[in-house]
Amino acid sequence: MTKERRNRGWYGMLDKDGFIRRSWMKNQGFPDHAFDGRPVIGICNTWSELTPCNSGLRELAEGVKRGVWEAGGFPVEFPVMSLGETQMKPTAMLFRNLLAMDVEESIRAYGMDGVVLLGGCDKTTPGQLMGAASVDLPSIVVSAGPMLNGKWKGRDLGSGTDVRKFAMDVKAGDMTLKDFMATESGMSRSKGVCMTMGTASTTSSLSEAMGLCLPMNGSLPAVDARRMALAHMTGKRIVEMVEEDLKLSDVLTKESFQNAIVANAALGGSTNAVVHLLALAGRVGIDLTLEDFEIGGEIPLLVNCMPSGKYLMEDFCYAGGVPVVLKEVAHKLRPAQTVMGKDISHYYEEAECYNRDVIFAYDEPRKPAAGLRVLRGNLAPRGAIVKPSAASDHLLEHEGEAYVFETIEELKANIDRDDLPVDENSILVLKNCGPKGYPGMPEVGDMPVPAKLVKQGVRDIVRVSDARMSGTAFGTVILHVAPEATAGGPIALVKTGDRIKVSASTGVLELLVSEEELEARRAEWVQPEPHYTRGYAKMYVDHVLQADQGADLDFLVGKDTRPVTRESH
Ligand code: FES
Ligand code: MG
Repeated sequence: MTKERRNRGWYGMLDKDGFIRRSWMKNQGFPDHAFDGRPVIGICNTWSELTPCNSGLRELAEGVKRGVWEAGGFPVEFPVMSLGETQMKPTAMLFRNLLAMDVEESIRAYGMDGVVLLGGCDKTTPGQLMGAASVDLPSIVVSAGPMLNGKWKGRDLGSGTDVRKFAMDVKAGDMTLKDFMATESGMSRSKGVCMTMGTASTTSSLSEAMGLCLPMNGSLPAVDARRMALAHMTGKRIVEMVEEDLKLSDVLTKESFQNAIVANAALGGSTNAVVHLLALAGRVGIDLTLEDFEIGGEIPLLVNCMPSGKYLMEDFCYAGGVPVVLKEVAHKLRPAQTVMGKDISHYYEEAECYNRDVIFAYDEPRKPAAGLRVLRGNLAPRGAIVKPSAASDHLLEHEGEAYVFETIEELKANIDRDDLPVDENSILVLKNCGPKGYPGMPEVGDMPVPAKLVKQGVRDIVRVSDARMSGTAFGTVILHVAPEATAGGPIALVKTGDRIKVSASTGVLELLVSEEELEARRAEWVQPEPHYTRGYAKMYVDHVLQADQGADLDFLVGKDTRPVTRESH
């Protein structure tokens, strides 16, 4: 005996309310039988011309619809707020939680039985998953897919990673401004998300590792016809999931999060996965903490993609993609339910690697023990993180003198000054760029290496902040320091000239200043005035949690799966 479908509360009644909903929907040409009780599948679309990474999602929605109709469902596409990482100020991350609210309330308010989440660009998939998790219908992900490899003068160009490298080359006088501008068109030459292992490809790959999408969703290029076929198959599958009542919470388990952490380490995935996984876990009531990420520390780096290596997502896909990585780390994975209704092992059992220079074997890795490290100490009592695979080995154990920027404006105005008193052993500290401080915890943690040092041939320096960095960035960058400066975290008390000790191997981030001195500084500390004083941004600043809790809003943690019973008329 199957339980009555949710959509019956919208379309099943033979009264005025049922009439109103069906009749108005019929103005789009849907026939009577669309409302006969078949599964209604919402297609939650973050397509937008202002989110270029997601510009292929209109077509993929059509693919999903084919599959839904084929399986006997009724597909209905709806838009939600889209977050264009490269286009939004002050940072798309400020709006991730707003997208999550939009998704949650749209799903709850409309008469759907299951949801297909069409996302891609960095914040879109996490925001969609967080929102969907708080309603907990059967849900499945289709990602936009990466752009084709960038090309310029016969060489490959990687989104984000290469623009950072080239900007440094221009600073050092190794690249002309003309060449720099010429790479712009070659870098982004098809629709799709960044084709480095940035946050978007990390997220689509982790969706695969967590069993939230069909196999190969992580890496198939945006314009590969097989992604359209995957969308079609996803449409078929979501109808079955509704029939099986296979909900998001059946797939989002402690085990699936642990598998994501292991996979992220092997992929050389983005540091941003940490805040998104923590926030998502909070929605489904799974106790996930920064400590859980330590299991990634022992996992070797297997994938040779930028920013931790040299290849791009197209190469990763053609080498076999996520299933190959999962097969290599299989002995570290936990049994876990997937949207296919089968264990995650089903995703990789038959995987084969077609290029060992792109995906290395577990026993012969690119780098041993390269997963994200959690650092703690008096500078970050609630933790900070560093990504060894994208860092310089010699700086992962380091002690140096701090050079402090109180604000992002101070950094921008001074970083390239010829008389900046820094050398290759200095530690740059940037304050007030956390969730409350900026606000929105932007990707400015990978502060530029000062021009003075770049000209001397220095390409990396230790950097510490309460900000994030782009998944496409590289360097010895210590991020997500919690609590943040604006919330009164000890990072607020650092002064230029203080000594700081960093040890990735032992997980230490210490400010070598006496407790008495820090107490004296604390007594003098004044909280900076907020930059935003109205609207959503005010609500965000008032309610955002710290990085170690995923920077979700405090009142959005958890879920509400109760039926909506009240009518609109
Ligand atoms: Fe959208 Fe990288 S900027 S995926
Ligand atoms: Mg980003």
